[in-house]
Amino acid sequence: LITGAGGGLGRATAVRLGVEGAKLALTDRDEQTLADTVALLHDDYGVDAVSVVGDIAIVTTSAQLVAAALAAYGRIDGICNIAGISPAIPLADTTGDDFDLIMGINCKAQLFLIQAALPALREAGAGSIVNVSSVGGRVALPNLTVYGASKSAILGLTRGVAYELAGDNIRCNAVCPGGIDSAMADAVVASFPDRDTAIANLTGRQLFKRFADAGEIATLIAYLVSDESSFVTGATFSADAGHTAI
Ligand SMILES: NC(=O)c1ccc[n+]([C@@H]2O[C@H](COP(=O)([O-])OP(=O)(O)OC[C@H]3O[C@@H](n4cnc5c(N)ncnc54)[C@H](O)[C@@H]3O)[C@@H](O)[C@H]2O)c1
Repeated sequence: LITGAGGGLGRATAVRLGVEGAKLALTDRDEQTLADTVALLHDDYGVDAVSVVGDIAIVTTSAQLVAAALAAYGRIDGICNIAGISPAIPLADTTGDDFDLIMGINCKAQLFLIQAALPALREAGAGSIVNVSSVGGRVALPNLTVYGASKSAILGLTRGVAYELAGDNIRCNAVCPGGIDSAMADAVVASFPDRDTAIANLTGRQLFKRFADAGEIATLIAYLVSDESSFVTGATFSADAGHTAI
């Protein structure tokens, strides 16, 4: 199961896992970009995927995705919780509705999908869950305070899920990417009056001074969702060009 599959990292993860032979069930609220991902997989990689359009913050979307995966493949082995939003809002302007929206999509929706897939993961006898957090879950980023709070919450969620589901042989890990070349990063940069300052804010504190290609993050997700990482659970992995190292 991959959420946010119409976006930069979700699409790159779908391609990476599809090429490796995974059976894919994809979701996004953007019907067009989700359809584009399904078409890309089919046309360029010969991979077929089932897909469900919906808002992942609404619990029924998770149920529909699980049902679609079970109908198509009969089992579920892994979850890549990737969908997210990052509205740049100065602290003083942040409302309670902003907080609920950002936490709902970035964190609560991850819980919803894990819960919805749990019976199938248990039935499969093993599973791996990857929750996408952010460098913003570990360090402060300008005008992204609630985004950072939601991404920090994902790290706690991940540890708790790992703890509670270890007895079911279900692993759960978090990934903290640095800035990725995607629509999300474009929107954050555009929200600042000065583009150069915005880019310096996002990449200036890391060691490579560039945005990641989404494939550079998808490769870490692929490792964590696969059996290659069989002894890894409850962990947080950074792929942030050293942003949190200095
Ligand atoms: N882009 C970055 O610089 C960056 C850095 C660190 C972490 N991340 C995280 O990586 C993940 C993917 O980001 P991306 O760069 O691919 O961004 P993106 O904007 O390209 O893709 C996000 C996708 O999530 C979907 N989405 C958003 N809200 C949704 C909802 N309520 N229901 C269903 N789908 C929804 C969007 O339609 C979009 O297709 C996010 O969780 C983001 O926070 C991104």
